[in-house]
Amino acid sequence: MPKFSDNDWQQVWAGANIATMAGAGPYGSIHDAAIALSGERIAWIGPAAEARRLAQSKGLPVRETHGQWITPGLIDCHTHVVYGGNRVAEFEQRLCGASYEDIARAGGGIQSTMRETRAATKESLYESARRRLECLMAEGVTTVEIKSGYGLELAAERRSLEVARLLGEALPLSVKTTFLGLHSLPPEFAGQRRRYVDEVSGPWLRDLVAAGLVDAVDSFCEDIAFSVAETEQFLQAAKQLGIAAHVHAGQLSDMGAAQAAAKCGALSADHLEFLSADGARALASAGTVAVLLPTAYFTLRQTTPPPIALLRESGVHLAVATDSNPGTSPCTSLLLALSMACTLFGLTPEEALAGATRNGARALGVIGEVGTVEVGKRADLAFWRIGQPAELCYGLGANPCAAVMYRGKLREIGPA
Ligand code: NIG
Ligand code: FE
Repeated sequence: MPKFSDNDWQQVWAGANIATMAGAGPYGSIHDAAIALSGERIAWIGPAAEARRLAQSKGLPVRETHGQWITPGLIDCHTHVVYGGNRVAEFEQRLCGASYEDIARAGGGIQSTMRETRAATKESLYESARRRLECLMAEGVTTVEIKSGYGLELAAERRSLEVARLLGEALPLSVKTTFLGLHSLPPEFAGQRRRYVDEVSGPWLRDLVAAGLVDAVDSFCEDIAFSVAETEQFLQAAKQLGIAAHVHAGQLSDMGAAQAAAKCGALSADHLEFLSADGARALASAGTVAVLLPTAYFTLRQTTPPPIALLRESGVHLAVATDSNPGTSPCTSLLLALSMACTLFGLTPEEALAGATRNGARALGVIGEVGTVEVGKRADLAFWRIGQPAELCYGLGANPCAAVMYRGKLREIGPA
């Protein structure tokens, strides 16, 4: 961490309550506090009175926040926001009795979005994803992970990842890209699973990595998708290239995907409604984060929540994300995911908020940069009109976000 003195201060924000999400006490809270920034970094955190005095002695203006809460900028560590079309027809089918798996086996589901994504122009993919990201940003999200996985042919996967990169350049939030090569077996490879996994883990991966488009890889490890062995082949190929991994694990059944994720040193294993004690232990010892996706659980009207007590006892870090996608989670609200993490999964509000800050950062391998409010970290911050941090998990549909700061630059959200 760089060292700062008060001579480095360029911005001072005072009169805030800060949920640092680091250090002792609930939410790492500091009351009547101030924060000073140097460029895009946090240079100082301390009592408001002291900040005002120091700032005045230097002739630096102080921005008063009038008791707003400041948290780390929120981190949505699992999304699929780049896709064509929607799946509202399947929503109707499921409500008439069809299951997610039935629809997938009949060529709908991911394959239906694949067809629409392949047919979409790059501009329309960009525009629809941008609108989704704007919704997330309006609720304080400063870092987002974006997966491909709806192209399922090299050119279309490349296009989705390029769109994700372009969004990261055009918008103030930070984007991490994930090549979800093993999402569903595309029709061109019907009956040739082996050849598909070899292609994805070989030439496709090398091509996309060489183009600078891949921060991590991902596999949907499930009966209706890819096996543990196939997942491990892809993750090991990525590891050889120095690329990190996530795994869609235990969403519909326990195939041992969590153990596979841990064995390959994945950053995260995501979903985990179906997880054994052995799987939880494996995640804990590998330091693989469990990413909980309650809005997908809600949308599929699942009834077996992830084993939260087991995850806690095992000492696994818990993150919470939207899984924003057209099939299982047409959701662009991370605050709603926090609320559902509490009401449906039984997380405490503090655990849920840690899941969208500190542990979201861990799941993306960026905890050294963001995820807590600490000196030396990037000034990615969210400002809230709330009386206490638990309100971020309590509200349903309201947006208490007043402003969002990206790398020290403030973006106001709208009137109170
Ligand atoms: O995270 N489970 C796999 N991937 C997505 C859903 C994909 C889809 O149905 O389009 C998920 O739930
Ligand atoms: Fe997902």
